[in-house]
Amino acid sequence: MTLLSDQLSRRRFGLAALTAAGYSRILGANDRVHIGYIGLGNRGDQLHDAFLEHGDQETVAVCDLREDYLDLAVKKSGAAPKRCKEYRQLLDDKNVDAVAIATPDHWHALMFVDACHAGKDVYVEKPLSLTVSEGRRMVQVAAETGRVTQVGTNRRSWKSYLEAAELIRSGGLGKVTMARAFSIRNEWPLGLGMQKGPAPSDWEWDRWLGPAPYVPYDPNRQYYNFRWFYNYSGGQLTNYGVHFIDAIRLLCGLGQPKSVTAMGGRYAEIQDNREIPDTLQVMWEFDPTMLVTFTQSNGNGASGDEKHSEIEIRGTKGTMYVHNSRWELVPEAIGDTPTGYNLGKGYGNPLNRTGEARGSRKPQIQARQGTSTASNNTASHTRNFLDCIKSRQKCNADILIGHLSTSSTLIGNIAHKTRTMLDWDPAAERFPKHAEANQYLSYQYRAPYKLG
Ligand SMILES: NC(=O)c1ccc[n+]([C@@H]2O[C@H](COP(=O)([O-])OP(=O)(O)OC[C@H]3O[C@@H](n4cnc5c(N)ncnc54)[C@H](O)[C@@H]3O)[C@@H](O)[C@H]2O)c1
Repeated sequence: MTLLSDQLSRRRFGLAALTAAGYSRILGANDRVHIGYIGLGNRGDQLHDAFLEHGDQETVAVCDLREDYLDLAVKKSGAAPKRCKEYRQLLDDKNVDAVAIATPDHWHALMFVDACHAGKDVYVEKPLSLTVSEGRRMVQVAAETGRVTQVGTNRRSWKSYLEAAELIRSGGLGKVTMARAFSIRNEWPLGLGMQKGPAPSDWEWDRWLGPAPYVPYDPNRQYYNFRWFYNYSGGQLTNYGVHFIDAIRLLCGLGQPKSVTAMGGRYAEIQDNREIPDTLQVMWEFDPTMLVTFTQSNGNGASGDEKHSEIEIRGTKGTMYVHNSRWELVPEAIGDTPTGYNLGKGYGNPLNRTGEARGSRKPQIQARQGTSTASNNTASHTRNFLDCIKSRQKCNADILIGHLSTSSTLIGNIAHKTRTMLDWDPAAERFPKHAEANQYLSYQYRAPYKLG
């Protein structure tokens, strides 16, 4: 069965299943799914739009710390959803079938686990978690409570990506040896700047911090900017990197990393108080064996490769350049004679530098391209979630997929922090030879927060 038809048949032929936990409505194919939205900032607003494209969703509740974000969401919903600032109120509402969580990363695990226990199906934004141990607990709770889950690595539902995966996995590039991913933007000289503005109430700041350590209010940390601080995010490696690593795992049929290393730092002297590096190179060896790299360059904006791609997949017969919603396959010219000195002339032979170096070189595959025509690429991912809520089948980016991709990036940050090449035991989810690195697989929540 092909990747594309497998995805389709999982949608079409799914059988309904019941959950043991919480209260859950059983939904038929024509029912509207009642959704509660938690976090309606930058991404939550986009996600709401992507659900609103489907006639069988209804916005029944909205939750955020900010009144102005709630106002916008209510206006867009075309309905009269319940408004709350406390997410547990939303979870207590029996009218809510499913939740969409788009809060900062340090809140994902708590909200996800509580939602599962309340009997809600869950769409949770990427990266899944702040630590590997949180992600593993999320996988366990989703299984224990029988919830349908979708993680926001939305490329998993894009037709162009599924076609590219089909092509690569069926040998279309020959033996794939290497993939490179790029997150590139010049943020020098000002970066985040040093933002000023009225402080939120003590309650709002405390609630925004949630399980993270207490620090006095800093506008550079709150809202969109949390990505540049490690207590709330894994930086650009988990922000963009998780999209790319998840996509590479899909495209190349990869399992988990066997080892990882990283180098980088704040080299560009950007004038803000960020904690994450502006320059970073992470390198993994994955199983089945393949080299994967992630390049973050925020001190220079030149493209990572000649095609300006976000992901480049290198096979023995050709290279796939993957862009946001299209891909391009460029064949290699393959020689028909051995390389090296054994030709007796050409390379490496000082007696005959002008002779024919090699025989003829010809492509063995055709140049090809693919595109995604969807106007809102997230809408195909939200569509898949709504379908799976009804069929009780696994979503395209279910919790385990999201966890394995997120943890691949999280261990990259640990390699960077410990300045080490780390072996990774994916079954135990531990570093077998590095006690210090294992300490960073979890962290102590601020009281009274506790993961259920
Ligand atoms: N899939 C994608 O392509 C994509 C794109 C952008 C962001 N994201 C993810 O979405 C998440 C949010 O990012 P963002 O850019 O929207 O950040 P943001 O700061 O703009 O929005 C987060 C919202 O969560 C709210 N919030 C924080 N704590 C809360 C709490 N305790 N209760 C209720 N609401 C709370 C904030 O008030 C804010 O409105 C991140 O995990 C990010 O990685 C995914």
